[in-house]
Amino acid sequence: MSITAALAPLPPGPGRLASLRAYGRNPATYFQAILPRYGDVLRWRGYMDMYLLNNPDDVRQLLTRAWPEFTKRNIDYRVLRQTMGEGLVTSDGDFWARQRRLMQPMFHGRIVNGFDEAINRATADLAARWRARPAHTPFALDREMGRLTFRIVGETLFGAAIEQHAEEVAALLAQTNTNPKTVAALLTLWPWLPVPSNRRFRRQLALLDRIVYGLIQDRRGSAVARQDLLGLLLAARDETGAAMPDQQIRDEAITLLLAGHETSATALDWTFYLLAQHPAVELRLVAELNAVLNGRPASAADLARLPFLKQVVQESLRLYPPVWGLSRRAEEDAEFGGFRIPAGAYVVVLPYTLHRHRDWWSEPERFDPARFSPARSEGRHSYAYLPFSAGPRACIGIGMSLLEIQLVLAQLVPQFAVRPVPGHPIVPSPSVTYRPRFGIQATATVRAGTG
Ligand code: HEM
Repeated sequence: MSITAALAPLPPGPGRLASLRAYGRNPATYFQAILPRYGDVLRWRGYMDMYLLNNPDDVRQLLTRAWPEFTKRNIDYRVLRQTMGEGLVTSDGDFWARQRRLMQPMFHGRIVNGFDEAINRATADLAARWRARPAHTPFALDREMGRLTFRIVGETLFGAAIEQHAEEVAALLAQTNTNPKTVAALLTLWPWLPVPSNRRFRRQLALLDRIVYGLIQDRRGSAVARQDLLGLLLAARDETGAAMPDQQIRDEAITLLLAGHETSATALDWTFYLLAQHPAVELRLVAELNAVLNGRPASAADLARLPFLKQVVQESLRLYPPVWGLSRRAEEDAEFGGFRIPAGAYVVVLPYTLHRHRDWWSEPERFDPARFSPARSEGRHSYAYLPFSAGPRACIGIGMSLLEIQLVLAQLVPQFAVRPVPGHPIVPSPSVTYRPRFGIQATATVRAGTG
C-alpha cells in the first residue's frame, strides 16, 4: 500500500441507505443521475459499500492492473461460479492466464470469420419464419433473438449436436443466469440450504451438466475431428502436453454458451429498437446494405464495405451496453483521483455511465451512429467506450459477436421493418445483461420489393 493511498480520504457519495429505492429500480440510470453531484470517484453505501470509478484514466488503471491487485473474488463472480464453474469469465490468476492462452487461438479472425455461413443459415431460417407469419402478428423479439444467438453459439461451439437440446439448454441457462444480487441467486452460494429455489437450481444444473457432459462424451467417442470450438477445446494441450479435464471443458463450454448468447441477443434487441425510433438512420442503413449486397446475405469479407452498419452497431452498444457493469475486488488499498479505495472494497465500472459521460461524448443521449466515423472517433479515449471491457480480461468473443450482430442485421434489416408494438412497455432492466424487463413485443413487416 502506498503512503498516499493510506492518507487519502474516502470518496464522496450519498448517505447510507439514502437511495436504495432509486438504486433498486435501475442502478444504471440511478448512478447516471447522481454522478455529476459527486464526481467520477463515488462511494455508494447501500446494502453493501460500492466504489464506482467513472474516469477513463482510472478505469484503465483498474482494468489493466488485474491480477493480483484487482481480482474477481467478489460476490458477483462467486454467484456466477455456481453455474459457470472455473471458466474464463470467473477464474483468476495463473489458472485463468493458462486457459486464456489455450483458448485464444479459437477466437482468431481466421476461424471466427469462417462462422459466417452458419450465422447466415440460422438467420435465413428465422427470416423464413418471419415471412411465413401473418403480417402484423406481434412476437417477442427478445425471445427470437435469444434463440437465434443461442443457435449460432451452440452450432459454432458444439456443431449440430446441440440442436436437439437447444430449447432446453437455453431455458436452463436463462433460469440460472439471473441477477447475482437477487435473493434466489445469493442463496445458491449455500447450495445445501433446503429452500425451493436452491432445489430448483440444483435440478436445472444437474440437467445442464448431463446434456453438456453427454455432448463431450459423444464427441470423444466420435471418429470425426470437427473444427468447432468443442473440437478445439478437446484438442487443446498445455505446455506439458496435457489435455483439459472434462470438468474444465464443461466449465468453458457453459461459460461460452452463457457469455456468448444473451449478450449478442441483447445487442440485437436494442439495435432493432433504436432503428425503429430513428427512421433516417434506418433508411441510410438499408440504402448501404442494398447498394453493397443487393439482397444477398453478407459474408465476413463484405463487412469492410459496410462502414455505416458497423457504426450503427457501435452506437447501439454505446447507448445500451449489454454488459452494463463490471465489478472487481481491491486486494489492497489503492488510490484513484485522490481518494482511497480500501483493501477488500467492491469496485465497479459501469460502461453504461462511461458511455454517457458528458466530458467524453457530445449529446450522449442521442443515437448518432456517425459519431463512430473515423474522423469523429479520432482522439477519443480508448477507455471511454467499453462494451467489451478492455485490458487482459477483455471479452474473448469481440470478433465473433461483432461478426454475428452485423451479419444478422445485414440480412434482416433490408427485408423487414421491425416495429415495437405500441403500448407495450419497454423498460431496461440491468440484470447480468441490460435486458428489456418485459421483453420487446414487435411486428416484422416485409419491405416492398424484397421477394
Ligand atoms: C455483444 C456481445 C458481447 C458483449 C457486449 C460482451 C461483453 C463482455 C465483457 C464486458 C466482458 C468482460 C466481463 C468481465 O470483466 O467479467 C466479456 C468477457 C468475456 N466474454 Fe464477452 N461479450 C459479448 C459476446 C461474447 C461472445 C460471442 C463470446 C464467446 C462465444 C464471449 C465470451 C466471453 C468470455 C469467455 C469472456 C471472459 C474473458 C476473460 O476474462 O478472459 N462474449 N464479454
